[in-house]
Amino acid sequence: MQPAPNTNLLEVADLTKTFTVRQGFSSASFDAVDDATFTLQSGQPEIFTIAGESGSGKTTLARMIMGMELPTGGVLRYKGRDVAKLSGRERRSWFFREVQPVFQDPFATFSPLKRVDHYLYETVANYKITDKRGADAYIDSILHEVGLSIMEVKGRYLNELSGGQAQRVSIARALLTHPSLIVADEPVSMLDASLRMSIVNMFRKLKDDQQVSILYITHDLATAYYMADRIAIMLRGWIVEMGPVELVLGNPLHPYTQNLKASIPEADPDKVWTEKISLSEMESEEYTLTGCKFAGRCPHVMEKCRSHVPPNFAHEGRMVKCFLYE
Ligand SMILES: Nc1ncnc2c1ncn2[C@@H]1O[C@H](COP(=O)(O)OP(=O)(O)OP(=O)(O)O)[C@@H](O)[C@H]1O
Ligand SMILES: [Mg+2]
Repeated sequence: MQPAPNTNLLEVADLTKTFTVRQGFSSASFDAVDDATFTLQSGQPEIFTIAGESGSGKTTLARMIMGMELPTGGVLRYKGRDVAKLSGRERRSWFFREVQPVFQDPFATFSPLKRVDHYLYETVANYKITDKRGADAYIDSILHEVGLSIMEVKGRYLNELSGGQAQRVSIARALLTHPSLIVADEPVSMLDASLRMSIVNMFRKLKDDQQVSILYITHDLATAYYMADRIAIMLRGWIVEMGPVELVLGNPLHPYTQNLKASIPEADPDKVWTEKISLSEMESEEYTLTGCKFAGRCPHVMEKCRSHVPPNFAHEGRMVKCFLYE
């Protein structure tokens, strides 16, 4: 499968996921992801962060990008190819090899009943990855990229690895297919603070050494600030602000981003942003607002915010979805 020439690595255009949930005898629909639009360029590996509070649609967006969830609207193109139009075979032999996941909990990624090296050999076999040095040497070289070696992993079960080691193995497994994109959904949130920074540093190094772009999903603005090149802030399925991380987090323009940043005063990796503004009720209300989804909480709310969806404005080097920047 050859990519079309001169195309973006990933193009997410008006991507939408509408869920219908049952409420008593009736049902209600809401957009968990609503018109998400952004592009990752080819040949320029970057760490693109998607951040936002719990329930803002980050995982749903990630699952669509990984081909694990079908969008209900919009288009997803990978290397110029519409992902929805790939055949089953193209998906398996090309797309899933190119776009690799890293999940939050390494202990849920692997079965405790199998030796962890099984997953590495299995990936090499499934994708028919051939290396003239042989599978052992190839796997060992990839394990070295994540600070491990085959000696440390071979024959071991999950319970014999630390959390940090287990997450490194899951990152190594993702790297085996030489992906161009890794989608990592909260990959460090289960690790303690010291390990968290070592994995974060490793992602930065992998971006350069392996020329891989990383979509880093998190609710932790501190690691995002430290690690990301660009950031998109999500609120109830919308991307409300997006641009270079030093602009968006250094000088946030959207009142929601300002609110988020205020909840972590310093870029301290120990201070994970845990504020979960008692969601359930507010959540369902905000999804159904006809204007801006932040109108009910915004200190700068204007009349039109309650009735009109703000367009995306280009302002001070980033995109911001707010009438203040009209
Ligand atoms: N399969 C589903 N059916 C119905 N609603 C769903 C489904 N999956 C997710 N949702 C809802 O969609 C919204 C977004 O969920 P999502 O998991 O994408 O949020 P998130 O930003 O990843 O949150 P967290 O930070 O807690 O992981 C939530 O209201 C969630 O309850
Ligand atoms: Mg999530």
